[in-house]
Amino acid sequence: MSVVVEAVDVATPELVTALNGLLPQLSSNAQPLSLADLETLVHSPSTTLFVARNEDDVVGTLTLVVFPIPSGERAWIEDVVVDEGARGLGVGEALTRAALDVARSNGVRTVDLTSRPSREAANALYLKLGFERRETNVYRFLAGD
Ligand SMILES: CC(C)(COP(=O)(O)OP(=O)(O)OC[C@H]1O[C@@H](n2cnc3c(N)ncnc32)[C@H](O)[C@@H]1OP(=O)(O)O)[C@@H](O)C(=O)NCCC(=O)NCCS
Repeated sequence: MSVVVEAVDVATPELVTALNGLLPQLSSNAQPLSLADLETLVHSPSTTLFVARNEDDVVGTLTLVVFPIPSGERAWIEDVVVDEGARGLGVGEALTRAALDVARSNGVRTVDLTSRPSREAANALYLKLGFERRETNVYRFLAGD
């Protein structure tokens, strides 16, 4: 497999379809993305949406958010998923390395992410790439209706 990782700069219906095929493989609660949603995130200055392609097929995605706060420039990785048929071939690693390169080039101090312990492949991937497990509590406030 010859995988190329790219940062998306144009929202297309093809990408909407591809992402809507991938996101349910990350979470059964994933809501379908519209073209307008994709345009919003592609144009967000803090957000970089990466996709991995094998030939023309989108086989994985990852989103990096870089943001300044008083303690420095920080980054967060979210929505990492590789198509079931393309796992174990280096796609997740290539996506994560691409995100870390962009984070570094933005001068970030830290790159954070969360991953449930049951996600064995994901936890192994992040440890392999040098992420360190932190002892902290993760909280979420459900702000929607
Ligand atoms: C986690 C995920 C993105 C990994 O993507 P991938 O392309 O299959 O991973 P890679 O082939 O790049 O593997 C890189 C490293 O990850 C780890 N890894 C990958 N699959 C693994 C598995 N099934 N079991 C244990 N470790 C695994 C290994 O350390 C591997 O390095 P190695 O090949 O030198 O052993 C993919 O399994 C996935 O989409 N899972 C479902 C969604 C998910 O859990 N997303 C992460 C949310 S935090």
